[in-house]
Amino acid sequence: MCGIIGCILYNKKAAPVLLNCVKKLEYRGYDSVGIATSSSIIKIKKDSGKIDDVHENLNLDDLPGDMGIAHVRWATHGLPTKENSHPHTDCKNKIAVVHNGIIENYKEIRDQLIKEGHQFKSETDTEVIPHLIEKYMDMGNDLESATRLAIGNIEGSYAIAAISRDEPNKVVGARKESPLIVGKGNREYFIASDAPAILEHTNKIIYLEDHEMVILSDEGIEIKDSDGNVIKKEIFTIDWTPDMAKKGGYDHFMLKEIHEQPEAVKNTLKEINEIKKIVQKFKKFNRICFVACGTSYHASLIGKYLFEGLIAIPTDVILASEFGYSAEALDENTLVIAITQSGETADTLKALKLVNHKAKTLAIVNVVGSTATREADYVIYIRPGPEIGVAATKTYVSQLVAIYLLAICMSGKEELLEKLQNIPDYMRNALEKEDLIKEIAMKYKDAKDFFFIGRGFSYPTAMEGALKLKEITYIHAEGYAAGELKHGPLALIDDDVPVVAVAPPGKSHEKTLSNVEEVKARGAHVIGLGSSEDEVLKSEAHDMIEFEDKIDEMFSSIHYVIPLQLLSYYISVMKGIDPDHPKNLAKCVTVE
Ligand code: G6P
Repeated sequence: MCGIIGCILYNKKAAPVLLNCVKKLEYRGYDSVGIATSSSIIKIKKDSGKIDDVHENLNLDDLPGDMGIAHVRWATHGLPTKENSHPHTDCKNKIAVVHNGIIENYKEIRDQLIKEGHQFKSETDTEVIPHLIEKYMDMGNDLESATRLAIGNIEGSYAIAAISRDEPNKVVGARKESPLIVGKGNREYFIASDAPAILEHTNKIIYLEDHEMVILSDEGIEIKDSDGNVIKKEIFTIDWTPDMAKKGGYDHFMLKEIHEQPEAVKNTLKEINEIKKIVQKFKKFNRICFVACGTSYHASLIGKYLFEGLIAIPTDVILASEFGYSAEALDENTLVIAITQSGETADTLKALKLVNHKAKTLAIVNVVGSTATREADYVIYIRPGPEIGVAATKTYVSQLVAIYLLAICMSGKEELLEKLQNIPDYMRNALEKEDLIKEIAMKYKDAKDFFFIGRGFSYPTAMEGALKLKEITYIHAEGYAAGELKHGPLALIDDDVPVVAVAPPGKSHEKTLSNVEEVKARGAHVIGLGSSEDEVLKSEAHDMIEFEDKIDEMFSSIHYVIPLQLLSYYISVMKGIDPDHPKNLAKCVTVE
């Protein structure tokens, strides 16, 4: 959802560093890239397209100066063209700005500025910012004051970095509802949309709050509140290493992250004591309400089955973007659990804000120090390491483990913890099916529609399988409750539609098999996921992915998702799509 970087370096060219950092943010958007540096004048290189392609044509790292700003774009206002690429400038090209967020009142501001004689070059909302800064600098303000005045005009969300030719040793940053962090290196200072982008340079991070501003200069970092008072902020040391954000020999981050899942789950399991401490602080809740988006929403759906099954607490799962329309029934006996790997998803943050102390809030998060961790009353970190691939994989299984641990701790049924200890081994076994899954991918890669079906715990797994396929292969896919097929979608089933049936042993197994029969009777090709001892499914399915473990469906959701992730990954690669950068999507969606 756009990524921004700003830096001031010591005796070092900024452009190569900015390029390297902005590459780490490509998961946030890849419609265009741009870099601006400043020495005696501001120089900008930018264009639409992915970073490597633009770099090949423009040599993005060949710009003078030891300070600058950079941007990757996920287009909101205006097509992904060169003109709409950031950085944007004022009329005299003496101010450059990069922005992540949406300026809701940009039309009014733009009209007013045009009346005042400003000339615009792009269709973006962002371009009003450099022009506003120009206006206030022309009135005699310095870059910092002019930026403060400029953002005072803006409604909406922003993380910005601004530079000016007139103050060539300064980068000014500001945030409201879009993430921005500050990095303190050795006489080198950074601002960035997230920490992994600058980890090669420093792991000392300061998290900005809404309405705070940061001024980077040769002398260091100054952070100010909305009134311009200097404030002291805690510096966090991040324990992620730069290598964690590299592909490590894999063709794509997504494949690497799929393979890291057994380790990710082990790391989450180590959080048990932290979770116990949190649970001890809980009062007795009589309602749980999950809020989340995308893959995190599917993890939350598993949470519903678990909490209702283990603790008999009524549990709702609400899409964060719908929360504002339905979640009125909150009180002090409700626990709202926000699941968000990034901790920065705008819809989820908005939901947390809407709770507004009416209920207790818990955030289950990957990114340490992210906004959700500061909004919620309690925080559980899932600890799988940074996830770069746009389609969530390892953070999903870690979220699931955190939810299992939480439900087990809240239920007092600690004997169930033992079941979770074997999951990393089951996951390794699932990963060993990679060659078989590649063959299945080859067989079905040209299908136009897919169905994924399951019941109970396997229903969210089916939904997650369908989401992965949509995200990275662009094939239409539906994740459906197997029992609901007959109420409509069965009309769509024929011999062109592969149906993936998630059918682990357990309560729902027999009925799922009946649904398999139903789709087969309409000509569907069935890909079965089930136990290696499931002779019925083996004989019904055209293709079978077998699991040697005999674990009950209640604990199957974590490892049963792996073949579905691999299936999507291989179909994506076979179709010539880059699974790390699916079109139109971004990893961290910071607009509502
Ligand atoms: C985006 C990503 C998804 C992710 C969702 C929620 O849509 O592409 O992979 O599941 O955001 O993200 P969160 O960081 O809140 O878990």
